[in-house]
Amino acid sequence: MLVLGIESSCDETGAAVVRDGREILANALASQADVHARYGGVVPEVAARAQLTAVIPVIETALARAGVGWDALDAVAATYGPGLAGPLLVGLTAAKTIAFARRLPFVGVNHLEAHIYANWLREAPSLSSSAGEGNGEWSDPRFPLLSLLVSGAHTELILIREHGDYRILGQTRDDAAGEAFDKVARLLGLAYPGGPSIQRAAAQWPAGKPLPLKLPRAWLRGTNDFSFSGIKTAVMHLARHAQESGEAIDVPAVAAAFQEAVVDVLATKTVAAAKAEGAAEVALAGGVAANLALRTRLARDLRRAGIPFRYPPIALCTDNAAMIAGAAYFHLQRGERSDLALDVVPGLALPAAS
Ligand code: KG4
Ligand code: ZN
Repeated sequence: MLVLGIESSCDETGAAVVRDGREILANALASQADVHARYGGVVPEVAARAQLTAVIPVIETALARAGVGWDALDAVAATYGPGLAGPLLVGLTAAKTIAFARRLPFVGVNHLEAHIYANWLREAPSLSSSAGEGNGEWSDPRFPLLSLLVSGAHTELILIREHGDYRILGQTRDDAAGEAFDKVARLLGLAYPGGPSIQRAAAQWPAGKPLPLKLPRAWLRGTNDFSFSGIKTAVMHLARHAQESGEAIDVPAVAAAFQEAVVDVLATKTVAAAKAEGAAEVALAGGVAANLALRTRLARDLRRAGIPFRYPPIALCTDNAAMIAGAAYFHLQRGERSDLALDVVPGLALPAAS
């Protein structure tokens, strides 16, 4: 089954063609990161306009790269939430229009669920050899699957017992992990998006050299919840102190200390939850899953715990449309379709387990 997926929840416009929820035939993306870098964050109205100019060329690019015409498609899917209302509306309307005109089944996809389903994806063998970085043997993830979903707006530990069956074990009580990366990058004068900037700055700190500072960790023991506002505030004080005293802030040291603290908390709590819930596997998901320190630390700790671990290739961690087409397939398989009257839901959450 070939599904055309469309993603437009924030500042990336994506269109992808995916076979059977797993094999990527094409995954086209137009990023507006350069536009928003000027403002240090995403400006919703600017994002919506950029989605509008990008969406049709990106869909055409995806079909051309996949080497398929409209007739080959079996269904169309688009993100309907969570995200920014204006940008969401663009991709959702495009998908509904295609479904109506081509008389194709339509599925509205939850963006959070789609991030998790990036773990089912691989590139078609004929495509780039970078396929599958991190995904090893191309087996499907096994249930019960524990997913650590870490994106710009979400930080959640989710137990998935079966397709579509989600139990949120814990979540952030304040900032999301990606949001903390973005805010701390801004405090350190690093470019948007902050995650990759912090990772690059932290890499300038010599490996193995002890850090001159340790930032606070909010353990929230006895819960699977997270909190990242305290660490952000700690960096804010450091930046303010440096400014007032006229000293230059040691950016690589602070970036490395920040990354280490966030990774420490995320990894420790994920491993504890995986053990407590008897997870068959752990899967990383969301933009922060692209972070190399997080991937390396979880790989080490889960290997020690004897729990298999997987994460998508970097390009499938951050927003993309292949994950939308992928997640849609599993809904279609269960006979689920969305109505063409479906509207955007900017505050959409993962469906609670029944
Ligand atoms: O999933 P995503 O692309 O968009 C949302 O759905 O939110 O996640 C974006 C977030 C941003 O906060 C960005 O700074 C972060 O993911 N991110 C990273 C890295 N790459 C992207 N955070 C840490 N390390 C990275 N390498
Ligand atoms: Zn996302």
